[in-house]
Amino acid sequence: MSSYIIEGGKKLQGETYVSGSKNASLPIMAASVLNKGITKLYNVPDIHDTQMMIEILKKLGCKVKKNQNKIIIDSSIITEFKIPESLMRQMRSSVIFAGAILGRYRKVTFSYPGGCDIGSRPIDLHLKGFEKLGVTINKNFGKIICETEEIKPTEINLDFPSVGATENIMLSSVLAKGTTTIINAAMEPEIIDLQNFLNRMGAKIKGAGSNIIKIEGVEKLKDVSYNVMPDRIEAGTLLCAAAITGGEILLKKVNINHIAPLLEKLTESECKIGIKENEIHLKAPKRLKAMDIRTMPYPGFPTDMQAIIASCLCVASGTSVIVENIFENRYKYLGELQKMGAKVNIEGKTAIIKGTKKMYGTKVNSTDLRGGASLVLAGLAAKGTTNVNNIEYILRGYEKLEEKLNSLGAEIYMI
Ligand code: EPZ
Repeated sequence: MSSYIIEGGKKLQGETYVSGSKNASLPIMAASVLNKGITKLYNVPDIHDTQMMIEILKKLGCKVKKNQNKIIIDSSIITEFKIPESLMRQMRSSVIFAGAILGRYRKVTFSYPGGCDIGSRPIDLHLKGFEKLGVTINKNFGKIICETEEIKPTEINLDFPSVGATENIMLSSVLAKGTTTIINAAMEPEIIDLQNFLNRMGAKIKGAGSNIIKIEGVEKLKDVSYNVMPDRIEAGTLLCAAAITGGEILLKKVNINHIAPLLEKLTESECKIGIKENEIHLKAPKRLKAMDIRTMPYPGFPTDMQAIIASCLCVASGTSVIVENIFENRYKYLGELQKMGAKVNIEGKTAIIKGTKKMYGTKVNSTDLRGGASLVLAGLAAKGTTNVNNIEYILRGYEKLEEKLNSLGAEIYMI
């Protein structure tokens, strides 16, 4: 397992940019199998998770060429309708292939995705959606076998605005004969990006970004080129890196509309924020002010930013309260922050953080993707040297993280 070594105490200064969105790229790459043809994607982040998606596309029979952030997928011939179990276990979001393969072939087999480090992460809403679309689902020995003569368009009410379930129902309905409506759909920007991509491919979808999405089935799709949206969580991570170190940065290639809840909170903690088109200028105060955070489905404060802003709150002046409303086990990283001197109390889904003047470098272990990023930020601000271990988690979701941080004056390197 690799590690980051971080020399703390350096204020981040200068400018960097945001890469393409991991959480928009994954469903869009899966959606490419709906078309018997060529899909060209640009601004795809070159990270572990997109590499895994390429492996799965190849296992399904697609030809894939990648050149840094450009990916060309030829899905003319699909020879396999099973999502490989080993890859399902390594990356839960590979379940997104189910909707795409179902949409094109009306049959797919996959295994329960591995629960991951932030909660059980069931897929009951995905399966209920498929059943409402007329799909027969058989389960044996951990395998889930889905098939149907044809996808029956219908109206689906989601118990919870699940991002993955919304995406899977969209994908399986694109080629159906008739219109499917999703009520209580997730409203995340990545859903809008998926709708834009699918419509560019010839689908007829509207409503993404609202809680009602209508998918009018079409007969044929066509080859498509598409530029993936910027990663709003990476943007938030880089802004928080400047905030926690008392720095001043200019962040380029950001979609400002996607990170309003975070900008609101950074302003509340007395950062000075300036925005212009797709650039954000942030000047941090000498010391951040404590504040309360409650995570909600979009457009509320994103759960993926919870761990990251928490490290800022550990050195803020005052006591902060975080309520994590989306995942049931997303505080594991706090135990690692406590090793660095953070004063934290967890009561159920609430974390109470008493800001201290300083945290101290030591050996800590990444527990998951965003928890790992949170430890990196704590290491940037801490006094002394921090070893962040198991950084494979972090490499799943951040492209060139240490290069970007070092270009801002940090001292971080991988071993
Ligand atoms: C997506 O995961 C993101 N991943 C997550 O980002 C993000 O945290 C999450 O949405 C919420 O915004 C990708 O887009 C690849 P959900 P997803 O279905 O689709 C429960 C990151 O760090 N639920 O909206 O899995 C579930 O247990 C990752 O980049 C059910 O109960 O999230 C959770 O408590 C982490 N049944 C809540 O809903 C279901 O069938 C939200 O899950 C599905 C979900």
